[in-house]
Amino acid sequence: MVTTFNTIEELPTFTEKGYHLDIIPSKPWDKIYAYYELSKFMPPEDDYDTSLKSKFYNIGRYNGVQLSFLDLLKGPCEAFANQELEYSNMYGIREYLNGATLPAHTDRLATHHISAIIMLDTDTDWPIEIQGHDGEWKSIIMNPGHILFYESAKCLHGRSTPFQGKSFKNCYVHYKLKNYQYGGE
Ligand SMILES: [Fe+2]
Repeated sequence: MVTTFNTIEELPTFTEKGYHLDIIPSKPWDKIYAYYELSKFMPPEDDYDTSLKSKFYNIGRYNGVQLSFLDLLKGPCEAFANQELEYSNMYGIREYLNGATLPAHTDRLATHHISAIIMLDTDTDWPIEIQGHDGEWKSIIMNPGHILFYESAKCLHGRSTPFQGKSFKNCYVHYKLKNYQYGGE
């Protein structure tokens, strides 16, 4: 049965805290890392974005990459949320540059219910802050090979401290809940 929700408050929570940091399983890591290596030879899709201080390397434009990343991480994301999920999209690689910040936000209510950040490479620690279901903000340092599962439509998340290093690269996968549907616009 599909439940319709119209506001962020009506979307239930599915995990105790709202997020979980883990080590990515080797199979998805090997595949994603291979494309990360390939991306080093790609020109960025956008020019330097002065507002975000970041670049975008669209590895998803390679045939089958979106689907294969979403395939490989669907099981782990379903296990995190204890819910059946459907594909939304993969996003990245996003490279953040010196001085970058990421304003706190929640993801799209229609399609980005459960997400994961895959940390690829950095020269300097840069915490992500996430607000748990208990209202407490947690600052999390991710190292390459870490994956952060989170209820991205519910939990506010961002990076308020300007990045002090030169280059920080990660990518994202986003899923929609199979049994919940957004009734808004
Ligand atoms: Fe987000």
